[in-house]
This record gives sequence, structure tokens and C-alpha cells, in this order.
Amino acid sequence: MPAPSARRILVTSALPYANGHIHLGHLVEYIQTDVFVRFQKLRGNRAIYLCADDTHGTAIMIRAQAEGRSEQDLIAAMRAAHLADFAGFQIEFDHYGSTDSAANRRLCGEVWKALRDRGLVVSRPVEQLFDPRAGVFLADRFVRGGCPKCGAADQYGDSCERCGATYGPADLVAPKSTLSGATPEIRSAEHLFVTIEALHGFLEAWTRSGALDPPVANYLAGHFLCDPLRDWDVSRPAPYFGFEIPDAPGNSWYVWFDAPIGYLAATAEWCERHGESFDAWWRRGAGELAEIHHFIGKDITYFHTLFWPAMLEAAGLALPTKVRIHGFLTVDGQKMSKSRGTFLLARTYLDHLDPAALRYYYASKLSGGIDDIDLNLEEFAAKVNADLVGKVVNLASRTARWLEATGLSAAYPEDGGLFARAAADSAEIAAAYEACDFARATRVIMLAADRANAYVDAGQPWKLAKAGPDAVRKLQDVATVALNLFRQLAVYLAPVLPTLAADAGALVGGPIRSWEESQTPLVGRPVGPFTPLMQRVDTKQIEALLAASRAEAASPGEFAMDTPGPSPTAGTDSGAALAAEPLASTCTIDDFSKVDLRVARIVAAEEVPEAKKLLKLTISLGGDATRTVFAGIKGFHEPAKLVGRLVVVVANLAPRQMKFGVSEGMVVAASGAGAEGVYLLSPDSGALPGMRLH
Ligand code: 2FM
Ligand code: ZN
Repeated sequence: MPAPSARRILVTSALPYANGHIHLGHLVEYIQTDVFVRFQKLRGNRAIYLCADDTHGTAIMIRAQAEGRSEQDLIAAMRAAHLADFAGFQIEFDHYGSTDSAANRRLCGEVWKALRDRGLVVSRPVEQLFDPRAGVFLADRFVRGGCPKCGAADQYGDSCERCGATYGPADLVAPKSTLSGATPEIRSAEHLFVTIEALHGFLEAWTRSGALDPPVANYLAGHFLCDPLRDWDVSRPAPYFGFEIPDAPGNSWYVWFDAPIGYLAATAEWCERHGESFDAWWRRGAGELAEIHHFIGKDITYFHTLFWPAMLEAAGLALPTKVRIHGFLTVDGQKMSKSRGTFLLARTYLDHLDPAALRYYYASKLSGGIDDIDLNLEEFAAKVNADLVGKVVNLASRTARWLEATGLSAAYPEDGGLFARAAADSAEIAAAYEACDFARATRVIMLAADRANAYVDAGQPWKLAKAGPDAVRKLQDVATVALNLFRQLAVYLAPVLPTLAADAGALVGGPIRSWEESQTPLVGRPVGPFTPLMQRVDTKQIEALLAASRAEAASPGEFAMDTPGPSPTAGTDSGAALAAEPLASTCTIDDFSKVDLRVARIVAAEEVPEAKKLLKLTISLGGDATRTVFAGIKGFHEPAKLVGRLVVVVANLAPRQMKFGVSEGMVVAASGAGAEGVYLLSPDSGALPGMRLH
């Protein structure tokens, strides 16, 4: 229970988009934030960790249309996947909301009214590219064409990757919509703008208030605050998946307007559940303010350091105490890449490796600055094995068993000042955690681990165990010191490694609940049976992870839920597939339901010797009846290996007379997007022939 004098700290991570799975780039931020919050709680502060899915915008709308489902259905599925991934990595939110919530709609209305009341909203027409085939206005990232400056082909609508020029999508040479491939038209629509220039003076002061690190404040001063701030376009005409603006029917708030308000909405929902007052956390003038810490990636600095404080200021809400900005993740020195197998999804990692290993590795690399961090897979294995397995866990595994029968010594033995010395490291380690310099925290902790291991090496408990009755007392003392030093390390590492801390508590001394437990050694306590606390990272596991990631990239299935455009916290090449083959024009759910897709079992498969591409398949849709289908998969699949396999077929395709016979359906397969091969789709296990796909 936090003391009444404890700090109140509201902490957020950027809200992940609901149109993509969590990958290891995202996890840099969530792990960093989670470590910070766990540290604050361990110190006895009242910290709450809030987040939500970021659900609105064109990308989700287009994707839902393409999949013939509602946006709500899509975002519910992605929410479940996000929560499972976060839980897998022991990211512990106090509340996880959604920007598509009633609380968010209400709070958007409140902030909007404040902006209106202060005369900060204006309206004017905007010319924007419109995709006539998809029927939507196109965000800059959904248009590609030639760079108007250097002529480089196939550039995004906002900037050129070759020459760095920035421009508007209408300036592109021969622009094409990435959604449908259509040539966009310029259309005019009325948009609403927030005139944040009126808050220029406030922003100049706030950016220098200590909420931002000086390099960030300097960047903003040099790039934005040196000129009048451009009005911020916060509305989008229908169709748009978002909240309709109450006083501007037919228009919705732009996703970046309602996304940060999601921080407020998550707080409101948490307060509602816990009988707390929203005002006490956010409303100025409602007593002593809480601290507010936002963790974000450097790509969204602009939104969190100019627009967001401007909105809060206008609405009379509390301003961020600290915006903590981190860099991107690279893998083995390069941006994550599907073809190299380094586009690593959270769930794929969890299928092969221990989440604690990544938590520790990231912590050991994060120094609180904006620099990118590299996941070097060789170093990852070496560091986890050397530090966690070789130093920390090894302390317990080499000594705990000698205490199973006797428990800890009744008085704390002479240890040459080791425990006291590590206890004195508390201030430095805590300051490092507080500054998000987890690299420094782990360095100091590992130095203490080195000293502890040197003590065990010198004490040689394995020899004492063989030395006869005289050495029994000495053995108990050496092991008592070692296990106390181990538990002390576990307290310091608890924010990073909650499972190790729980296991250490189960071994000796009970659950670790407070940082203060690092200050006093335990005596006379029972010691539980030792169970292995952590496994070494084997390079085979890493190879298997990379192979699985490559396979996913080649046959994405539902992993294809990445949109064109920048990834939130990592440089990636995830948009390539969709850009290479633009989506077909929109179809309705009625159009889609005309296609009767069924699960089928291949009961026989044979070559068609005269055909270059065809295999002749006999398929069953359940029951005794079978059908013949000619499939263009020769060369990619061996007939014998196909027999017995479940596939998806278009069951109501009109029979087609082909050169080699009549084909009574079509087997569904994926191809293209830069990958060679034809990839058959298979249902989850449990599906039966004849089941319909919806
Ligand atoms: O960049 C992103 O991934 C956004 N979804 C982050 C939103 S953070 C906040 F403002 F809501
Ligand atoms: Zn260019």
C-alpha cells in the first residue's frame, strides 16, 4: 500500500494501431515503460500504467472493407491478439482501453468544445486526392508516384526516400492510389483546423519546462517554433472510421486528434473501475497534480510535444511532466525485414524464446536517450547466457540445495561487506531506473553479481559439502550469504525480470514487494526446493525463430495485418506487399457472399504430364462425393505430400472445360508480393471438409 506521501505517477505508452500485430520494435517501448512502472511501484509510489488500442482512421476502414467485416469486428480481433502478446511479455497495464470507446467520444467532445470556446477552430476548403475506385480521400501515405524534385519513381505522397524532398501528394508525378491502383482525382472538401499558432508562446515555454530533454526542445525550436506554427487539420470528411464531429456532421475527427485523448479515456475508465476521481489525475485546479509520463517513439515526437500539450492547455488539463522518447529498433544492424526473417512478431518470438531474455536484453541496451537500439542476435544470446544464467541464476543454483534441509543460518555470517556494499548501490541503481537508464542499472547490478560469484568461487561450497561434519556450519554460512546476495539482485532486477523475482521469492523469503528488501539480509528462513530458474538461449532457438519469421513472411495469412505507411516504433518494409499489388476495387458483403469458399480435403493428387503448371487434385467436401480440380501449383508442391491435406476451395465456381478435363472448383493459394512460390492456405486444426468460410 503506497504511503500517503507517495508520488502519483500516470504513465502511458503510445497506443498501438489496431491494424497490425505487435512486433519486437513495438516492444522496445512497452518493455521500457513496463520496467519504469514496475520500478515505481516497487519503490512504493502510486503508479498507473495506461494504454489502449488506436482504432480509427482510413487504414482500418479499408482493411475491414477488404475483409468484408465491420471495423468493430476487426478491432476486437486485434485487441485480443495485442493483449495476448503483451501478457506474454509480462507487460502489465493497469488499464487497456480503446479509442473507439464511449469515454473517448465524450472526452473528445470536451476537448473540442474547449478549443471552440477559445476560438481556436477555423474552417476552410482543402484540396485532397480522392480514390474514385475505393471511394475515399487518400492520406499522403496511400499515394505513390514520381518525386516532383528528383524524379525518383514510386515515392510516398509526403516525402522522397531518395532526395529527402517533402511535398504534398498532389505534387507527385503520375500518382497512383496504393489502395486500388486508380489515378486519384483532386477534390475539395471543407476541413476544420486548430490554430495552434495562438499557443506559440505557451509551447515555447512548455518545451523548455523540463518535460523534454534539451536536444528535443532544441529540435522543436529549430524546426517548428522558429516559424509561425501551421494550422493543424483535425477533420476528415466521410467516409472515415472515427467519431463524427458533433457540430460538423459528415466529418470525423482525424485519428491523431482522438488518439492521445485515448490517454484521458483510459484514465477515466480506470478511475470508474477503481472508484477514483478523473479530475484528481488530470484536471488543473483539482488539488495537487499527478505526474504524467508519456513514453513514445521518436517518429511521433511532433504530435506529443506540440499538438498534445496545446490541446491539454486549451482544455485546462494537466500537462505532461515528461515525454520520454526512444529510438527505433534495428535487428543485426538493419531495419527489420521480412525477407531476411528479421521482421519479428511478438508471438513468433514467444513460440521460440523466453520473454525474460528479451526484457533483460532491451533493458541492458536502453539508456533513456533517443538513439536507435540494435538487437544483435549473437550478442543477445551471449549476454543473456553470461549475465542471467551465468551470473544471477548460477548464484542460486550453486548454493540453494545446501540449504534445503537447514534453511538460512540463524545469524547473518561475515561476508566481507558484500551485502552492505550492494545495498549501498541502491541509490545509484534507483537513480538509473528513474532516468530510464536501464543500461546503467543493469551494469551496476551485474558488477554486484560478479562480486557475489567471486565469493562463491572462493568459498567452494561443493568442497565444503564433501569435507565432513566440521564444515557443515561453514557450508550453511557460505550458502546463506550467496542466497542473500542472489535475492538482493532479484530485488534490483524485479522491474525487468518479474518472473525471476517471483521465483526468487518462492525459493527464499516470500514474494518481493518492496525495493527496501534489498537493504536487509534474511536469516533463519526456510529455503524451498531449487528448480531451474532460467534456461540458456540456444542458437538453435534463434535459428528457428528466424526460419519461422521467414515462413510467415512468405505465407502471411493473418500476419498480413500491416498497413502501408510507417511503422510506429521500427523501420520496416512491411508495406511492400500491398504496394506491389494494389487492392481490387471495393466489393460489398453481398458480392463476397456470392463466393462459396469451403474447407476441402485433398484425397488424391497427380501430375498432368503434358501441363507445365497443373496438378490434378481429387478433393472431398465431406461425405462420399469427390470433385476434380486442376490447380496451377505444379513445381511448388509434390503430389504425394498433398494427399490428406486440408485446403480452401471456391466450391461454387462454374465448372470449366480445360485441355485436360473439367475443373470443378478452384483451390485458393497466395502468390506474388515479391516472393516466388504458390502458397496453399490451410485452416486451423479442427476444421472439417465442407465447412464454409465467412
Ligand atoms: O504511431 C502510432 O503507432 C500511433 N498509433 C500512436 C498513437 S499514440 C497516442 F497519441 F495515442
Ligand atoms: Zn526525390
